[in-house]
Amino acid sequence: MPRSTRAQFPGDFRWGVSTSALQIEGASDIDGRRASVWDSFAAEPGRIRNGDRPTLACDHYHHLEEDLDLIKALGVGAYRFSVSWPRILPTGTGAVNEAGLVFYDRLVDGLLERGVEPWLTLYHWDLPQPLEDAGGWPRRETALAFADFADVVSRRLGDRVKRWITHNEPWCSTIKGYYEGEFAPGKRDLAAAMQATHHVLLSHGLALPVLRANVAAAQCGIALSLHPIHTASDSEADHLAAIRHDGLRNRWFLDPLHGRGYPEDVLRELGTAAPDIVEGDLATIAGKTDFLGINYYFREIVANDPKGGPMRSRVVEPDATDVTGFGWEVYPEGLTELLLRVKRDYQPVPIAITENGATYPDEVSADGAIHDERRAVYIHRHIDALKAAMDGGVDLTGYFVWSLLDNFEWAEGYSKRFGLVHVDFPTQKRTMKDSGRWFTDFLKG
Ligand code: NOJ
Repeated sequence: MPRSTRAQFPGDFRWGVSTSALQIEGASDIDGRRASVWDSFAAEPGRIRNGDRPTLACDHYHHLEEDLDLIKALGVGAYRFSVSWPRILPTGTGAVNEAGLVFYDRLVDGLLERGVEPWLTLYHWDLPQPLEDAGGWPRRETALAFADFADVVSRRLGDRVKRWITHNEPWCSTIKGYYEGEFAPGKRDLAAAMQATHHVLLSHGLALPVLRANVAAAQCGIALSLHPIHTASDSEADHLAAIRHDGLRNRWFLDPLHGRGYPEDVLRELGTAAPDIVEGDLATIAGKTDFLGINYYFREIVANDPKGGPMRSRVVEPDATDVTGFGWEVYPEGLTELLLRVKRDYQPVPIAITENGATYPDEVSADGAIHDERRAVYIHRHIDALKAAMDGGVDLTGYFVWSLLDNFEWAEGYSKRFGLVHVDFPTQKRTMKDSGRWFTDFLKG
């Protein structure tokens, strides 16, 4: 049974919920917004489950006040959201769309009026389509365009927003987008994907001084998706495969951010697919941050596989019965392990868990409620795991549940519900789930 209480965490620990622009906003062609890579990708047949599109999503754009009230009702002190690049700079660079900025003014002001701290993510995968057409993240200019975007947003909102996250899960926007092809823009080119990882990290580093110049007392970080990596067997081959796999999954991002450059073993495996790096880039990427965001969902169990992609590794399904609706194993102890590892190997700045949560096939019961006890238990067990990491000396500053609302779950469309609040997509009716009520009670102590 989970047992942690809020009182066991520091008074200034931030408890929050997370969302992202493309997954909730809708209004995809309203008030000057233009297409992102995900709008185009979703329009291609066969890309998204059930042919779902993010066009309307939770129509958050038109339900802003109601959604702000839900955040307030949850009793959280912080809300992590992302801004839509193609809403603010519809063609990616150049002309600024004032209506886009006005929307985020309203969002930020609405949060502050309700006593909720805004945590703003600049990039949660919705690259303006014209920038993709020009070459996307494999092209160096995209990193420069990102720094300009950061400038526009932080000039406008920096008087009220102090927490800035440059990128969300670079692994997904680059490896899944340009190599595995499951995410926008749906390419399958390892060298392009690796060049994209470098430019995403570079753009993070380029944005840091811009944010610091525009935002007094800015707190800046990046949110990585990290996984504990376990070996499928005791064999030497599986052990070495796990090290290689960890190299691309975790160290490829953690190492350069902590001033160590890219891991040599991964560079060796990549061979000619390794990215071009211009002198000075690594110093830029290692710019000083104030916190490290970690999104945690599951561990990976890895076996050796000579045909298993660039790291010659294969992820093996765990022999687990406790899995979420994605088939992801519920493994809270992995969060403790991961945090202790990051502390041991990197001595990082304070860590915030910027995402953690679960999808289940929720149903509205006859009484109109959503009895998702499993989600509440999932969250509580992960908070226990956080507490254990804190006891082990990890400096933690916050925990954000993914997600406030059921929303557009990328390639899975609307088939996977992660919300503390249920959304009936045809009517856009919101209903607090039992897990949301549980979280409120937890926060009340
Ligand atoms: C991580 C991503 O940042 C978020 O957009 C996604 O919905 C969740 N994981 C759940 O898969």
